[in-house]
Amino acid sequence: MSDVVIVGGGIVGLACAYETARAGMKVTLLEYGKTAMQATNAAAGMLAPMIESHGPGPMLDLGLRALHDMPEQVDELQQRCGFDLELRLHGILKVAFTEEQFAELRQRQAWLESCGHDVALLDGEQCREAAPRISERVIGGIYSASEGSVSNQMLALALERGAEALGVDIRQRAPAVGFTTGGERVTAVRTPDGDVGCDAVVIAAGARSGQIAARLSVNGSNPIPVRPIRGQMIALGGMSCPIRSVVWGPEGYLVPRANGLVFAGATVEDVGFRRRTTTAGLRAMRSMASRLVPQLRASQQRFDWAGLRPGTPDGLPIIGPMPAWLNVIAATGHFRNGILLGPITGRLVANGLGGDWSETSPEFSPGRFV
Ligand code: GLY
Repeated sequence: MSDVVIVGGGIVGLACAYETARAGMKVTLLEYGKTAMQATNAAAGMLAPMIESHGPGPMLDLGLRALHDMPEQVDELQQRCGFDLELRLHGILKVAFTEEQFAELRQRQAWLESCGHDVALLDGEQCREAAPRISERVIGGIYSASEGSVSNQMLALALERGAEALGVDIRQRAPAVGFTTGGERVTAVRTPDGDVGCDAVVIAAGARSGQIAARLSVNGSNPIPVRPIRGQMIALGGMSCPIRSVVWGPEGYLVPRANGLVFAGATVEDVGFRRRTTTAGLRAMRSMASRLVPQLRASQQRFDWAGLRPGTPDGLPIIGPMPAWLNVIAATGHFRNGILLGPITGRLVANGLGGDWSETSPEFSPGRFV
């Protein structure tokens, strides 16, 4: 019998496991495949709440809080686990090649500045001062000095090791195939190897969360309407890394990694659960990278991959108690921000299970879809 069963072993599930165990709960985590090997592994590790934001609101607020908390969380995990999580807050540059693109960036910089966020407007030459290898065709951009990246793989591994050290029972290849219920409560999560009894359940299964929540559907509605949105990426190497910090262009981004590779991504495709890369998708990423940093034309494509982001109808994550159930929590729908928002979601869920949802925006509630 567990206090909490967490369904899903990606970064969000692992963070929920770590934080709930840290809060003193007895936790079991069920991962249908291998932990952190789906969207978490496919990410680039970007921490970009401002550069990726579409406007003021609860998403930006949560992202900024996540960015603020990240160094302390990383530091704590590094001390527990003893390896570097490669947190690099070296700034993010977003650039434009056309007047229209630059106008969009100016607008973004203006509203970010009006909300008190420090993002600079740069002309083409200033962009090349910030990132000397970017294309001569860049006419301007915006620069956010406080954003950056972390190793998504190392962060997930640290959360997993940390959770295990706190006694979490992490089960790999353990799909949740159903639920045993009694009244308005889930009393156990069913797996092929038997039931795991629980006081509470957290559904943190990324793009598959909707399929899992559908088994708890009341009146045919699904309070977790997540949709898989494929992202394809490539890793470029074979030369000294031409960028020091993250560079975004109109068609994608480049993330320099500690091992010298540049991750270039990502496509945004609504193709169901097809997780394969495509020739067209990889080619698009390769040309996007060369357009941004022409020197990358001479790079070698070291590997490629694709992942399924959990998208939601309104672009907001789904965090909070599931309607019609007294002990089921949703923690999913982080779409393009899973690495940034994973650790803080773990904290929100741990607080929520302790009875305090005051720090979670009601706009993230699964109830909004019912
Ligand atoms: N946050 C980057 C992506 O999802 O492509």
